[in-house]
Formats: sequence, structure tokens, C-alpha cells
Amino acid sequence: MNGDKIVNPLRKPAVTQAPLHELVRERWSPRSFAADPVSTADLRTILEAGRWAASTNNSQPWRWIVATKDDPDLYAKALACFAPKNQRWAVTAPALLFSVARMTFEANGKPNAYAWHDCGQALAQMMLQANALGLVVHVAGGIEPDKVRETFATPAGYEVVCGIAIGRQADPDALPEELPAREREARTRKPLEQLAMGRGLGAAGDVFA
Ligand SMILES: Cc1cc2nc3c(=O)[nH]c(=O)nc-3n(C[C@H](O)[C@H](O)[C@H](O)COP(=O)(O)O)c2cc1C
Repeated sequence: MNGDKIVNPLRKPAVTQAPLHELVRERWSPRSFAADPVSTADLRTILEAGRWAASTNNSQPWRWIVATKDDPDLYAKALACFAPKNQRWAVTAPALLFSVARMTFEANGKPNAYAWHDCGQALAQMMLQANALGLVVHVAGGIEPDKVRETFATPAGYEVVCGIAIGRQADPDALPEELPAREREARTRKPLEQLAMGRGLGAAGDVFA
């Protein structure tokens, strides 16, 4: 992560109800990316972090499509798969990825109900690993899955989960329209008391302790 020397132009550390590892506390989803490329070595490290995620029965349903500005044609095709609103900021990211889930177990062909869950779990590890390298990540559900499928010849039995933008964080004011203000919005979360309960989810105000 940026570690002792935080170099990112805008930090939005979580206001926490319990102590957190710095990597988790500092992670957030900027939309402003600098022009510097993400090295192949860094991309490999990020993907390696995903590869080592836990998954149901070690099924490893995650697959990734990777496009960088080093290949302008491929990059343009990837960018075109983002929803127009997301393209406004995704275009600044030097690396665009798509997470794709294999929806059946390779061992027996049965449906894998955890495929998306495990892709998300891999992505969470990738985000933290990217932060540890001084990079930032913004995930986008606002993509056109059918376009991804067509453009990148995604086989039957796989579903496109989300887009992923990776790069170095840049000045929020480099973004167009309302995005600089959104970049500065506070990060909020529901209180832990509403999320974790000892007597079942219906028991309002139940603190598990
Ligand atoms: C699966 C998923 C889909 C998302 N889709 C979008 C999106 O389409 N556009 C966007 O600007 N942000 C998107 N986000 C970013 C979320 O809005 C962001 O993670 C959330 O507001 C929490 O902010 P934080 O990551 O900075 O803590 C997405 C995040 C995830 C995990």
C-alpha cells in the first residue's frame, strides 16, 4: 500500500468501529487515474492475488479479460463495453479488466451457485493487492455484458460479472462534470449493529456481544 508515505492525491480512510488493517481502512474507489501505465509485473501480481482466493471446492471460477493502453485497439474495445457514464472515468485508467465467472463445476458440470461470490472474493483480494502496490481500483457493474461476451468471445457457460479499472490515482479535478465532487464525497457504511446479529437478522438493535 502507500504505506507510511501516502502519495495518493485524495485519501478517504474509513471511519471505523473497530481497528482495521491499514490496507482495508485506506481502500476506496477513485475514478481519477493518472496516465502512467500499470506494469505487466504489477498486473501479474494483482491477478496472482485473485488466483489465490478461496473458492467453493477450490473450483476457481474466476477468469479475467485484461486490456491495457499498450494495445490501443484492444483497450478501445474494452472501454466500449463500459456504460457511457462509466466510460467518462474508465477512459483515464491504463488497465481495464472484466471479471468472468465459470458457472459450472469443471469436475461434474453441475451449476456452481457460488461462482459470482467467489469472483467477488478474488476481486477483493486483487483490490487490496493493487493498493499494496500503490495502485487503485474501481469496479463497475455498469457495463454491457453482451458486448463483452461478443467482443472477447466468452464461451457458453460463463457470465460476465463486472468491469475493473486499475491505475495510479490522479487529481480528482482532472475528471469531467460532477465527478470531482463525487470523488470528494464522504465514504459511509451502515453501522455494524445493523449488520451483525446474534439473535437473527430480524432482531433490530441486537448487538451480537
Ligand atoms: C460490483 C460493483 C459494481 C459497481 N458498479 C459501479 C459502477 O457501475 N459505476 C461506478 O461509478 N461505481 C461502481 N462501483 C463502485 C461503488 O459505487 C463503490 O465501491 C461504493 O460506493 C463504495 O465506495 P468505496 O469503494 O470507495 O468504499 C461498483 C462497485 C462494485 C463492488
